Amino acid sequence: MVPFHLTGFPRKTRVLVIVLALCFVWALLPTESFISPRRLLASFAGISTAADVEVDILRYVDPLIGAVNGGHVFPGATLPYGMAKPVADASTPGWELAAGFVFDESKITGFSNLHDSGTGGSPSLGNFPLFAHPGCPEDDYRNCAFAPTERAAGRVVGSTAARPGYFAIGLNNSVHVEMTATAHTALYRFNFARGDRVESASGVGVTLENSPLITVDLNDLGNTRTGGNIQVDPETGRMSGNGTFMPSFGRGSYKAHFCADFAGAAIRKTGTFAGATPNETVKAMGSDVKAVPISYGSTGAFVHFNRAPGDQVLARVGLSFISVDKACRNAENEIPGFAFEEVVKAAEDVWRDKLRVVHADHHGMHDDLLKTFWSGLYRAFLSPQDYTGENPLWESDEPYFDSFYCIWDSFRAQHPLLTIVDPKEQTRMVRALIDIYKNEGKLPDCRMSFSKGYSQGGSNADVVLADAFVKNLTEGIDWDLGYEAVVSDAEVEPPDWSVEGRGGLESWKTFGYIPEDEKPNTENGGGTGPRTRSISRTVEYAYDDFAIALMARGLGKQVDEKKYLQRSKNWEHLFNHDQEDDDLYTTEESGGQGSSYTRSGFKGFLQPRLMNGVFNHQPTRLCSPVYEPHKCYFDTQKATYEGSPWLYTFYVPQDMASLITALGGKEAFVSRLHYFHDSGIAYMGNEQTFLPTFQFHYGGRPGLSSYWVHRYIPEQFNSSVNGIPGNDDCAMGAFTAFAFMGFFPVAGQDVYLLTPPLFREVSLQTPTGKWATIRNTGFDPTYKAIYIQSARLNGKPYAKSWITHDFFVQGGLLEFTLGKRESDWGTEDRDLPPSMSTGYKQTGRF
Ligand SMILES: *[C@@H]1O[C@H](CO)[C@@H](O)[C@H](O)[C@H]1NC(C)=O
Ligand SMILES: *[C@@H]1O[C@H](CO)[C@@H](O)[C@H](O)[C@H]1NC(C)=O
Ligand SMILES: *[C@@H]1O[C@H](CO)[C@@H](O)[C@H](O)[C@H]1NC(C)=O
Ligand SMILES: *[C@@H]1O[C@H](CO)[C@@H](O)[C@H](O)[C@H]1NC(C)=O
Ligand SMILES: *[C@@H]1O[C@H](CO)[C@@H](O)[C@H](O)[C@H]1NC(C)=O
Repeated sequence: MVPFHLTGFPRKTRVLVIVLALCFVWALLPTESFISPRRLLASFAGISTAADVEVDILRYVDPLIGAVNGGHVFPGATLPYGMAKPVADASTPGWELAAGFVFDESKITGFSNLHDSGTGGSPSLGNFPLFAHPGCPEDDYRNCAFAPTERAAGRVVGSTAARPGYFAIGLNNSVHVEMTATAHTALYRFNFARGDRVESASGVGVTLENSPLITVDLNDLGNTRTGGNIQVDPETGRMSGNGTFMPSFGRGSYKAHFCADFAGAAIRKTGTFAGATPNETVKAMGSDVKAVPISYGSTGAFVHFNRAPGDQVLARVGLSFISVDKACRNAENEIPGFAFEEVVKAAEDVWRDKLRVVHADHHGMHDDLLKTFWSGLYRAFLSPQDYTGENPLWESDEPYFDSFYCIWDSFRAQHPLLTIVDPKEQTRMVRALIDIYKNEGKLPDCRMSFSKGYSQGGSNADVVLADAFVKNLTEGIDWDLGYEAVVSDAEVEPPDWSVEGRGGLESWKTFGYIPEDEKPNTENGGGTGPRTRSISRTVEYAYDDFAIALMARGLGKQVDEKKYLQRSKNWEHLFNHDQEDDDLYTTEESGGQGSSYTRSGFKGFLQPRLMNGVFNHQPTRLCSPVYEPHKCYFDTQKATYEGSPWLYTFYVPQDMASLITALGGKEAFVSRLHYFHDSGIAYMGNEQTFLPTFQFHYGGRPGLSSYWVHRYIPEQFNSSVNGIPGNDDCAMGAFTAFAFMGFFPVAGQDVYLLTPPLFREVSLQTPTGKWATIRNTGFDPTYKAIYIQSARLNGKPYAKSWITHDFFVQGGLLEFTLGKRESDWGTEDRDLPPSMSTGYKQTGRF
């Protein structure tokens, strides 16, 4: 044996060895030590250790996630459910700018004050955009550009900054614009270059006097305005006005009003503009006021300022759907002093408070994952928008929410999430829905800007109400009226069921399905609407009826309960046992593409059916990502809506046990569901695929649900600006939040399917301030151990793969022991989530 002598090595090596040895000792120091290597190394790599819990949670919220790639996320400044939503509006062609801003390189046309987040329709709201010039060529306001296309300015690369309650962007006309918001008021801070003169304004390379000109125009994102009024006060610079606009995915029109005040610089000139032409002598234009008549398109008012002593001009824009006066009062009450930093801080505090109900142990997790989670949770609070006190349509003491856009998207994850993390507001939303029923005659399926939006399938507000009912949301909710509302959906066909209620109710009651060849039945009291989507409407009506049955049970209405349970079996009528997975497209449908995949061998799919009982045929993969994904929208003539027969065949949440039998038993079901995800037929960018990610539970394979959660996160839901696979609808955010926290709701039922949290531990606050904690023993931040081996609830063994809402009301501790292989946990029949045919028993309220 040769003794180890350091002196036998060159000096350089000796030093190296000693340093390495010291490092080794240091590496053994406990994590808690302030020079702890694990903390230091982790912080370099962006990985969290347990000691990080005190950090400001807002640093993990990136509102820009989903601001490109079809996410349509609103990344601007807002409060939770806030009405004022200022952001920079992009000029991207098409619908990508649905929420105003797009993270691309298009020019910025202005900064508008109202927006929707994550929607799939045409661009929504975007009213009363402001714009700022640092000065005008030859110091003459007439030389500034007024029309949106002409005034649009490029972006300063890397200047976009978005945080909860704050948004900023630099324009290459030398103006840096910041914005924040209160509930009904937007506050802007326009920062101008120091010095008397400004290089290169909107005209390229010109030197201008620093003499800002700010405009407000009556436009919206979709150029839908008709009529309107605008005026500017030459003494104070206050601008106010209003217009009539059209909703982005609905019928009718709405009026919006604004009131803008400025601070920070003295007024030089004021006036109005129409199109590209300003006019200093005209101080008011409008269709109501006795003034110069107003034209279509871009029309507004301007204030030309002297150089701002502090190189900043503040603009405060009050908003209202009631009146200009109300808009001014909103602004004066909410932001009396133009104190920008204070408004930002107040907004941040509100957001911290909202997010405080979740405590997540960040141990071992990369910042990217933490951002994915917290930003998803944040987005779930963006909409619906609280317009209480701003409803011009009826007088009521009930809350009013708008931008249910659409419930078809949000009933599956977002509303159930709010029921846990914000039950107070979810309760107010349910009250608002019931009040809409009371005043408009039907619950909405989709509603925006005080207008009825298009229903995409069933009357899924029924599920929102049932979900709240079985989870015992009570405060101030008139459940008798709520029940009347859902029964109205099930029984009374409205004259225009494209925007509310259900169509084809007579067929529903006679045949037990919506036939593909259904004829209008207006002479028998039926209504009109697109006679399409027979498969998807059938399965959604069936589930909506199940939701009603649960409410009937809770309200002691046994006859109704029986009736609606019976109707909830109607999905069976469209189940064609003989239908095979197609491998050939008809020439017409393939557009000459021919076959491009091989037969999977799965048999038994939902198919359209005629009134005479004969099945028709729709290719099983039509409207999935693998075959003609865009053929099944609201205005197309297909039997499924935004999805394939493959997808809709899984939609029997009321009775998965019967479906599994129909599909050939648990093994066949599990392999089919796995194939659905594995073959690319599943599209995570639409909400219907959320539940099928977790439905392995019903086949006794909860581990596969966990497997697919980890396949989709972060591959499809991540912290990149393109990190959402489809329109967010606030729903993609909710799905992400649930998946991270380790459970997913079967909306409408008192059932949550359990998977291991992606955190070592996560706690949710109950309404009484206690905590419901889910803890992983054997947590593996590299996510190799993602399978539950065993579980304990409050210390006792827990074998069921699901849990009820009671856990989130009473609080408690649910512990999972994790391993790298699937175990037999949650596989026994008695441990499966409930199904109607196996004796569905509700807990909680019953
Ligand atoms: C500003 O950006 C736009 C679009 O990116 C570009 O066309 C324009 O030349 C730029 N102007 C200046 C002054 O840099
Ligand atoms: C401004 O409008 C007034 C009133 O319509 C009109 O008389 C005047 O010619 C306009 N001025 C300009 C510069 O267009
Ligand atoms: C619309 O604005 C005009 C002028 O700003 C005002 O006179 C009118 O009252 C407003 N209409 C409503 C309904 O508030
Ligand atoms: C992030 O998600 C998007 C949208 O689903 C996806 O296109 C992208 O590939 C993902 N990025 C990463 C790095 O996984
Ligand atoms: C439902 O909520 C009410 C009021 O908050 C409460 O009194 C009642 O105990 C709750 N019922 C159940 C079963 O939790």
